[in-house]
Amino acid sequence: MTYVVIEACIKCKYMDCIEVCPVDCFYEGENMLVINPDECIDCGVCEPECPVEAIQPDTEKGLEKWLELNRSLSAEWPNITRKGEAPADADNFKDEKDKFDKYFSKYPAKRERQRLIGAILVRLCRSRIGRPLPKCNITRDSAANL
Ligand code: SF4
Ligand code: F3S
Repeated sequence: MTYVVIEACIKCKYMDCIEVCPVDCFYEGENMLVINPDECIDCGVCEPECPVEAIQPDTEKGLEKWLELNRSLSAEWPNITRKGEAPADADNFKDEKDKFDKYFSKYPAKRERQRLIGAILVRLCRSRIGRPLPKCNITRDSAANL
């Protein structure tokens, strides 16, 4: 058995669950968290922490899809061990239904996207070191007219 994060977390992402986990097995997406089922030790302490009951044991009926999503997304999203700030509008989505169809995002947390973009830019810069700069046709006179 494991615990999984389900639809109610989407767009709420209160993050009260993170710091109680003894094995740090939460992973952060753009607008929800997931649990890595292979790391979860089924202690259950995170379940009552969530204000929207978004953490459930996978023994509950109908959670197969969520077990699969928690498994696959936790392999792609960054680990999170410290509580951050919940979205400013989180309370607006507490009671909303069908959040998966409306808002689900497969993308990792913004900080991970920024890290990846930074790494790509560093590689690009490094690949340019030692190469001549591209030819520039701007002269002093033409620059004066820009
Ligand atoms: Fe972490 Fe325990 Fe919750 Fe699993 S059940 S995610 S080990 S706090
Ligand atoms: Fe989501 Fe509940 Fe944790 S809303 S981030 S599972 S506290």
